[in-house]
Amino acid sequence: MIAFLAFALALLPPSHAADIAAPLAETPIAALPVAPAQALGLSGMTWLNNAANLGGAALPALGRGDFGAVYAHPAQPAWVVKIAADGFGAPNPRGRSQMTRDMLAEAAASRALADAQAGPRLIAVTRIPHRLQPFLDQMAGWFGARAPDWSRPALVKERVIGSTLGELRRAGKRTAVHDALAGDLKARLRTAGLAVSDMHDENVMIGVTASQAEARAYLVDAGSVRGLTTTSPAPTP
Ligand SMILES: Nc1ncnc2c1ncn2[C@@H]1O[C@H](COP(=O)(O)OP(=O)(O)O)[C@@H](O)[C@H]1O
Ligand SMILES: [Mg+2]
Repeated sequence: MIAFLAFALALLPPSHAADIAAPLAETPIAALPVAPAQALGLSGMTWLNNAANLGGAALPALGRGDFGAVYAHPAQPAWVVKIAADGFGAPNPRGRSQMTRDMLAEAAASRALADAQAGPRLIAVTRIPHRLQPFLDQMAGWFGARAPDWSRPALVKERVIGSTLGELRRAGKRTAVHDALAGDLKARLRTAGLAVSDMHDENVMIGVTASQAEARAYLVDAGSVRGLTTTSPAPTP
């Protein structure tokens, strides 16, 4: 077993740290609020078997889509954590880089949505470590190698306390009021020049947030938002 793992580690390029950090450094979108998980009150959260863990137990997700799994923040009830999810949890370096780029693009889009009052506030971009990372690091250390980083890119956003349009429909509670609020959301998106290609019922939530007490429709998933304009740098005097 050990020999096999040593062989597998030897096949890996020396370090993937640069692969993972590069998209953060290269993103053309300045001033994304990148913060370490500890600084966001997430130090106990890890990733294992395609789910977030806390204190050794899998956390129940608030929701899942094609790209992410969304959890209530364990310490801050006003926030959620959206973690890039897939398969067993150790994508290849190319997959990891792509996942990070996608999450950074989503962070920028989330911020644009929030600026347009069309999405919940973006708090931070972070990474959630893999539960087996310490073991992997130790193993690699024995062979003088550096282990690949299995951490997942994640977004911390304001939580929308409410329901998706799909949940309301399935519960038989969807009314014309919800459709009117969704209409207002579409108008705000149009005004802000944002185009959305997957505006479906699981991506729209009706509810309130800690910073907005009045019920609104929010596009909670910024993954398909396009037409963003990056902020121009301030002119030098
Ligand atoms: N800010 C939020 N507050 C509360 N629930 C959310 C929030 N964002 C997402 N969710 C829930 O998580 C589900 C999946 O989130 P989403 O961002 O659509 O992921 P994906 O990109 O994988 O489709 C949503 O359908 C919704 O139920
Ligand atoms: Mg979605």
